[in-house]
Amino acid sequence: MRAILLGPPGAGKGTHAVGISEHYNIPHISTGDLFRENVSQETPLGLEAKSYMDKGELVPDDLVIRLVQDRLTKPDAQEGFLLDGFPRTIPQAEALWNFCEDNDIQLDAVIDLEAPYDLIEKRIVGRRSCPKCGKIYNIYFQPPKEDGICDIDGAELVQRNDDNEETIRTRFNVYKEETEPLIDYYKNKNILETFDSTKPIDEVQEAVYERFS
Ligand code: AP5
Ligand code: MG
Repeated sequence: MRAILLGPPGAGKGTHAVGISEHYNIPHISTGDLFRENVSQETPLGLEAKSYMDKGELVPDDLVIRLVQDRLTKPDAQEGFLLDGFPRTIPQAEALWNFCEDNDIQLDAVIDLEAPYDLIEKRIVGRRSCPKCGKIYNIYFQPPKEDGICDIDGAELVQRNDDNEETIRTRFNVYKEETEPLIDYYKNKNILETFDSTKPIDEVQEAVYERFS
């Protein structure tokens, strides 16, 4: 399967990507995670991306497009992939569409996760993640067994730099302006499938597996 996860910040893209990529045995490619890795390793790309990410703005299209095209040519992505957080502008979507056409790749599905602002704000404020294994928690909805500690490897959980109330509003506005138009873009390509992401995690995932069985 070659699929894209679409949805506002906090909709659950990263959360569902873990289960979906395991279920279909495809790599999970998150542009946000790739940028955060570059930021923590202080690469030139990371240093450039950080200023945009901290403000909740989008990293310029050309940087993101190059990063994803490079990732999609890696051996593990040849039989399928799950993109999380890309594309999120019309130029990114067009670059991906052209890349796929040029390389004889067919996009199978865009999994559009819908959730209202009030809920995603609470989800983002409560999000914590493991710096070691990447597992995502939530102090309100998915707390770890022991406060602040990863259930899997015992690492201390961290909060993302951009997970504060001020930046969340900017990220949401950027989503509305730049990314939401992709819903119509992919509807017109007949590959958009919408899911109610206010439901419990297991229910959303079951609905996805049923739709693409
Ligand atoms: P990115 O990392 O992609 O962030 P985002 O789009 O803002 O999305 P999030 O990761 O915040 O939300 P999510 O949908 O993954 O939610 P999650 O599953 O964690 O991008 C960060 C930045 O990088 C951007 O702002 C930009 O600067 C840059 N960037 C990245 N890609 C780019 C691109 N293509 N172009 C330009 N710039 C780019 O869930 C959130 C919380 O909710 C968790 O705590 C989770 O436990 C909880 N939760 C999820 N689902 C449920 C549920 N069903 N029930 C209860 N709790 C739930
Ligand atoms: Mg995410």
